[in-house]
Amino acid sequence: MENLIKKAAEQLAKAKSVVALTGAGVSVESGIPPFRGKGGLWEKIDPMEFAHIDSFMRDPAKVWNILIREMKDIVDKAKPNDAHNGLARLEELGILRTVITQNVDGLHQMAGNTDVIEFHGNFAWQKCLDCNKKTETFRISLDEIPPKCECGGILRPDCVFFGEIINPQHLLRSRKAAYECDIMLVVGTSALVQPAAYIPVTAKESGAVVIEINPESTPLTGSISDYIIKGNAGKVMKAIVSEVERIK
Ligand code: OAD
Repeated sequence: MENLIKKAAEQLAKAKSVVALTGAGVSVESGIPPFRGKGGLWEKIDPMEFAHIDSFMRDPAKVWNILIREMKDIVDKAKPNDAHNGLARLEELGILRTVITQNVDGLHQMAGNTDVIEFHGNFAWQKCLDCNKKTETFRISLDEIPPKCECGGILRPDCVFFGEIINPQHLLRSRKAAYECDIMLVVGTSALVQPAAYIPVTAKESGAVVIEINPESTPLTGSISDYIIKGNAGKVMKAIVSEVERIK
């Protein structure tokens, strides 16, 4: 693994445009459970019953009580870990340009990354189903479920439920970033959910080197990824960044 970290750091230190695609795995060390695999959220609850837009529209109180309330508790307390901090440091060093994240927790921005595409939206805001007005999540009282906007409309998180489309702006910007980068770092994603999982394929097609960091194999491993660093994102990113700092 040390050798792989060295090689990845050498590539990063000389790269001109690096883009990262991140998933739930980067936030595991911040205490936010992933969706799939051991301890994953979808092991406890069925996403089609609780994370599909049709379920939310049918019974918003049920989805608020089982899914969103718990997410709010966890996300409210979470702080960036070494993986987020490492990616922020790579931006500071002039290496990393854009982070495309499937996460809705806002931890990349909290760590200091300034160009973050929140592919699945974000949990920092709630949107009114009636008037579309946005309210910051931390201002919302959970005394009444589902919480309501001042106009009386029901609030929903400003992130994508299953069955909804990705914001076209995010799609276009992500695709452009993937075409233009010379390295794509793929950190902590199972690469099972489309269209996000296609982003590293686009990068590879246009000649980028793909570096994957994940303790488990994914559909990208062995076909798309040029370097596979099997380990936890925090530890690996920290080691990569100190190696980059040493050689740059
Ligand atoms: P998943 O939960 O599908 O995958 C998490 C990945 O992180 C797995 O491949 C794990 O092996 C890896 N992992 C676990 N701990 C890790 C650690 N400490 N360091 C690095 N990697 C670790 O999460 P995503 O790929 O982000 O969508 O899932 C994609 C989308 O599916 C989510 O954005 C969400 C979900 O349904 C929506 O909510 C729309």
